[in-house]
Amino acid sequence: MASEYSVELEGLTKRFGDFTAVDDVSFRVKSGESFALIGPNGAGKSTIIKMLTSLTQSTSGSARVAGFDIKTQSDGVRLNIGYIPQLLCADGALTAYENLLLSARLYRIPPKEHVSRIKESLHAMDLSDVADQRVRSFSGGMVRRLEIAQSMLHRPSVIFMDEPTVGLDPSARNTVWKHVRRLRDEYKVTIIMTTHYMAEVEELCSRLAILHHGKIVTIGSIADVKKSFGSEALDDVFERLAQATAQGKTAKENYREIGRNRRSIAKRG
Ligand SMILES: Nc1ncnc2c1ncn2[C@@H]1O[C@H](COP(=O)(O)OP(=O)(O)O)[C@@H](O)[C@H]1O
Ligand SMILES: [Mg+2]
Repeated sequence: MASEYSVELEGLTKRFGDFTAVDDVSFRVKSGESFALIGPNGAGKSTIIKMLTSLTQSTSGSARVAGFDIKTQSDGVRLNIGYIPQLLCADGALTAYENLLLSARLYRIPPKEHVSRIKESLHAMDLSDVADQRVRSFSGGMVRRLEIAQSMLHRPSVIFMDEPTVGLDPSARNTVWKHVRRLRDEYKVTIIMTTHYMAEVEELCSRLAILHHGKIVTIGSIADVKKSFGSEALDDVFERLAQATAQGKTAKENYREIGRNRRSIAKRG
């Protein structure tokens, strides 16, 4: 089912008790496009990704991903997307190859295709030489690339990345960017990513939505968003949103989030 749009949200909302984490969010992402959700901690970025990947149920509203309804066709969604979570997901005790083998089984790839698919993914992420090394010995950037390799094994049409370069040094960040561009340009994957970094959006994405307290504050192309705020002021906007959030009732969540990020950074080395 070839649709112009790979991802379509209509009034998507998530409540945890009285608290509305994602508030009536609507947007569409065209096939082959790279789209960023940006905003301070607690803005609702990860919750949107979790609903779109069918890991958590929406409270109201609807969404289609890769042509499948997230509520009624979650199996279809899962088999046609890749997901790279915010936290570390590769197993350090296993080799890169063994991690990929687990993913191949998880994604129900026919066994006779395992070797060729794994080799292709390792090659795409420039990890062929370290296939038989334990992931524990990898740098943070290598682990992230392995996670991208895992997420593309079953040739999904859409890949979700939650803060793909958090905790990486600038050189590792550049390498991850290069490989995300390869996914986009050579494999024609639609990419939905979250990030805190405007530079990352400029490197990888053509359009973005800025979220604050679960709502879209602004959405459009990088040029549109810059124009609407004045290009110099863009970083100031994030700064203000981040401060407003940190001072509000979500300060506790912010702290917890920092702890989680630190733990994942520590594990990645
Ligand atoms: N399972 C949960 N139960 C209660 N509150 C949650 C849960 N998951 C997320 N939240 C809250 O929802 C808000 C949005 O969280 P999240 O989507 O993780 O934000 P972001 O990824 O933008 O930092 C935060 O205030 C967070 O504490
Ligand atoms: Mg998050």
